[in-house]
Amino acid sequence: MSGTNPFDLSRHLSSEAKARVANPMKAIWKLIQQQPNVVMLANGDPHFSLYPIRKVDFEVASIENQDPVKSWTASRLSARTLLLTSSSSNRSALPLNLGLQYANGAGRPEAQRAAAALTQFYHAPPDHITTLTLGNFDGITKCLRLLGEPGDKFLADEFAFRAVTNAGVPQGIEWISVKMDGCGMIPESLEEILVRWDEGRGKRPHVLYVVPCGQNPTGSTLSLERRRKIYEIAQLYDLVIIEDDPYYFLQYPSDPNDSSLVPSFLSLDTDGRVIRLDSLSKILAPGLRLGWLTSSAAFHEHLIALTDSSTQHPHGFGQVFLAELLSEHGWGLAGFDRWVSSLREEYRRRRDFFLEEFERRIGGSGLVNARAPEAGMFVWIRVNIEKHPRYQNGINAGDGAAARARTNVAQLMQELFMCCLDSGLVIVPASVFALSGDSVWDDSAVPIEDRVYFLRATFAGTEEIMRKGLEILANVLQTFFAE
Ligand SMILES: Cc1ncc(COP(=O)(O)O)c(C=O)c1O
Repeated sequence: MSGTNPFDLSRHLSSEAKARVANPMKAIWKLIQQQPNVVMLANGDPHFSLYPIRKVDFEVASIENQDPVKSWTASRLSARTLLLTSSSSNRSALPLNLGLQYANGAGRPEAQRAAAALTQFYHAPPDHITTLTLGNFDGITKCLRLLGEPGDKFLADEFAFRAVTNAGVPQGIEWISVKMDGCGMIPESLEEILVRWDEGRGKRPHVLYVVPCGQNPTGSTLSLERRRKIYEIAQLYDLVIIEDDPYYFLQYPSDPNDSSLVPSFLSLDTDGRVIRLDSLSKILAPGLRLGWLTSSAAFHEHLIALTDSSTQHPHGFGQVFLAELLSEHGWGLAGFDRWVSSLREEYRRRRDFFLEEFERRIGGSGLVNARAPEAGMFVWIRVNIEKHPRYQNGINAGDGAAARARTNVAQLMQELFMCCLDSGLVIVPASVFALSGDSVWDDSAVPIEDRVYFLRATFAGTEEIMRKGLEILANVLQTFFAE
């Protein structure tokens, strides 16, 4: 945009971020890191000799085999393992006495470096810094506070991970929904919102929240072409992109021999306008509550200031685990890559199993259809609700958010959800994810309230779980549509 320096992104900071006063003890902590042999009479840090713990052993899957996830799941108890130990000894990648001590907001340098090495290997960003988080949710909510001002409008997919969008609402952030198709966010729709923006109605949106791979809930993945277009639009209209990418490592290109991963927004970022969030939740374990955020140095400083005065840093065991796992005694980077490649194949098998069962049990009914997701854990099932005997079109649904609805799709889908629940199946209706459009910006002929005819199902479970779930779904659908 004219008159602004694209490389100085401080204009995007919230007043909260600008007003935050640094935690002075953390500033001293930073200095200490450069002088490890100082005598500490400074902090109320318990001395490690009083920690009632001497060492911790992590027994992890061996990555010697070409397909380690397959051998791990096939022979769970007899599968080969690797023992990683952290104690106070120097041989540990992150000695326990340090790992269990306080750290600064970016996390222990040993764990931070391990995460940064992953980002460098997969995304090679030009000039970014890594901050450890307690997972992507933690990272995103911090970004909302970094960038969000009461009355700000942020952009997101029309079917979005509402845990995130709702988190911004008490801050006064209003969400503007961008149209999607089977391939994710439509760049032209994004541009249209920005082109048509009437400044008289408030500040133009300056933040875009996007889940580029295996989007939650639709399972869609943005192609490189769309990513490039969206990035160009972000440059043109000065948007900061929050790239929430927990499913990055779970990509299933249609050619099974193609092992490449779609380049991230971060890897396209020349201006420092992308804040990328990675998580261990979907590739190791969610309870680790560990992820990492990659951003420009300017955003990094403010995010650290927030973390230093709130959550402090992720917990020590998770950081010790990550540092040991990625060290030369553990999997290392090559081993990590083998694990996630193998995990991809496992999830591809599960996805294919789900889709085969789906086709076999319900595909021929004409009541539902689904397309194969190219990443992530979700299948977005289109319910052909128009075939229901009580389906109505051309009605005015009433007051409030539902006022724009012209059909009873939402009501029928809610009934379907309850029928599934009564039969012992939990499957998520699209209304949970629908971002209601603002009629000022969204003059769509078919408002989202009339398009909530989807169900989100996951193929993350075992074959038995999927078989049972789809059997119940098939039976419920037959009864529901036959009433
Ligand atoms: C799109 C998306 N973002 C973030 C999260 C939360 O990730 P984390 O466990 O790293 O906080 C999820 C988890 O379901 C998700 O689907």
